[in-house]
Amino acid sequence: MLSEKQKLVLIIFLTIAFLSYSVYLYTFLPYKQRKISEQCVKGMDLWQKYNCNACHQVYGLGGYLGPDLTNVYSKRGPEYIAAFLQSGTQIMPKFNFSEDEIKSLLAFLEMMDKSGKADPRTYKINKDGTIEY
Ligand code: HEC
Repeated sequence: MLSEKQKLVLIIFLTIAFLSYSVYLYTFLPYKQRKISEQCVKGMDLWQKYNCNACHQVYGLGGYLGPDLTNVYSKRGPEYIAAFLQSGTQIMPKFNFSEDEIKSLLAFLEMMDKSGKADPRTYKINKDGTIEY
């Protein structure tokens, strides 16, 4: 059995360990490590303002009229996307974006592309059952 003094030391030790680990965790949160440019934030605002998600999906969530755009940046490239946004198609509306707005949307799509892969078929499954993408 632990003496009263030993119990006190143990409680103090555990409290300090808990507090230090909490401070460590909240100081190095993953989202704080990632720097998002202002252009990218503007792109995200445009994405919401024009409701691209009504027709497009991100990680499979969204409307199903158009394709999933999570990895469109690496799949199609910026020139293709810019051309698409400038001219629209019969089904995709033409939004009359300015040069700067197109750059912002490209920055947003690039950031989203780097966040991971949306298509589960492109995952690599390891022998221990974990996945890499
Ligand atoms: C009314 C529905 C609709 C909205 C809103 C919409 N899109 Fe689309 N989008 C489509 C459709 C449908 C296609 C496929 C068009 C085609 O192949 O003719 C498409 C295609 C695209 C493509 C090409 C994808 C590829 O792999 O070929 C990009 C990039 C794109 N949209 C970006 C956007 C962005 C950015 C927004 C918001 C500013 C947006 N779209 C809003 C319907 C929409």
